[in-house]
Amino acid sequence: MNSRTNTTPLSTRAAGVRPFYVMDLLARAKQLEAEGRSVLHLEVGEPDFPTPKPIIDAGIRALRQLKTHYTPALGLPELRQLIAEYYQHKFDIEISARRIIITPGASGALQLALSVLIDTGESVLLSDPGYPCNRNMIQILGAYSRMVPVGADTQFQMCAHHIAEFWTENSVAAMIASPSNPTGTVIKQHELTELIAAVAAEGGRLIVDEIYQGLVYSNEDFTALELSDDVFIINSFSKYFGMTGWRLGWMVVPDMYVDAIDRLAQNLFLAPSTVAQYAALAAFDDKSTRIFERRVSKFKERRDFLLPALRDMGFTIPVVPAGAFYVYADCSSITQDSYQWTRELLEEEAVAVTPGIDFGEHWASTHVRFAYTRPIDQLERACCRMARFIRAAGPK
Ligand SMILES: Cc1ncc(COP(=O)(O)O)c(C=O)c1O
Repeated sequence: MNSRTNTTPLSTRAAGVRPFYVMDLLARAKQLEAEGRSVLHLEVGEPDFPTPKPIIDAGIRALRQLKTHYTPALGLPELRQLIAEYYQHKFDIEISARRIIITPGASGALQLALSVLIDTGESVLLSDPGYPCNRNMIQILGAYSRMVPVGADTQFQMCAHHIAEFWTENSVAAMIASPSNPTGTVIKQHELTELIAAVAAEGGRLIVDEIYQGLVYSNEDFTALELSDDVFIINSFSKYFGMTGWRLGWMVVPDMYVDAIDRLAQNLFLAPSTVAQYAALAAFDDKSTRIFERRVSKFKERRDFLLPALRDMGFTIPVVPAGAFYVYADCSSITQDSYQWTRELLEEEAVAVTPGIDFGEHWASTHVRFAYTRPIDQLERACCRMARFIRAAGPK
């Protein structure tokens, strides 16, 4: 149907943007809370920890010093330099600050990367399950997503053999996230090396979303920049740095794209938030780093609590999620309809979790995502309630 014939005349591109099913659940959770029920939230994809004080203080100082004007479109030079030093210090790689672009969140970085790479009618390969906004951003640009079903055999990550299978004439890029949302899994280094080569062999570009970098509970924390300079890296201050509400991210791009991205950024955003950038200057100092590392241990404790508890209830988790704060669990021994199951779980036991359908179509109805963005005592209570709910439903 032509979207302009609807009562609200919308562009086809806007009409094609899909809602998140979890939003219905959230709205219902709010109603239940208003009725006095205590809802346990395992659906929220942001850290419960607030922004650390050194960063907040730096933001307040910047405002007091009246740093309220635009910065350059590509970001504050000193922040770009600090991020370059972060790569040097953490991964022992040298990245020119010129290639580092500060953006309004990873979301802004994704929009810039996709805008500079794809034309109308072209396609981008995305992992299914994967971060749902990517599909929508691609369709807003008049391009197409080719969904690549990924499973436990490849740690739920796209690999070189998928490129051979899914790349078509109109494909121009592939995109992965490692650690992934919703699976928390990390791509293996040798598989990433092969993936980079496979995309390059097709003359395409690889976008690697590293927004959960730092939130890795094994020794697998690495950046694709260790393997190639010819990739688009997406990152953010939202997750490891606990700054979701400040709306600040960055990307690292091949040198030849910097000027085009500068022009796009000037037109799309003018500049990232000034106060957020000044605040982020304090994100790399020792005090902040110590706070972040304590938080990483907390997330690991939560994961280590949740994994066996979910398995005891009958969920299957074939790959231990090494990062982010998500467990993507196969619930096929409990239900074949994860969307309905999450609705009933909310009604009966006031526990909110995200159904697989929000992340794609591949086995979506037999998967749910748990976010461990709440303290262990809340996770414990949620698990008790879920176990009771599953017991009450009886054998499938
Ligand atoms: C994989 C992934 N990429 C990008 C984003 C966007 O993050 P932000 O714009 O807050 O940096 C998210 C948010 O949840 C995400 O999970």
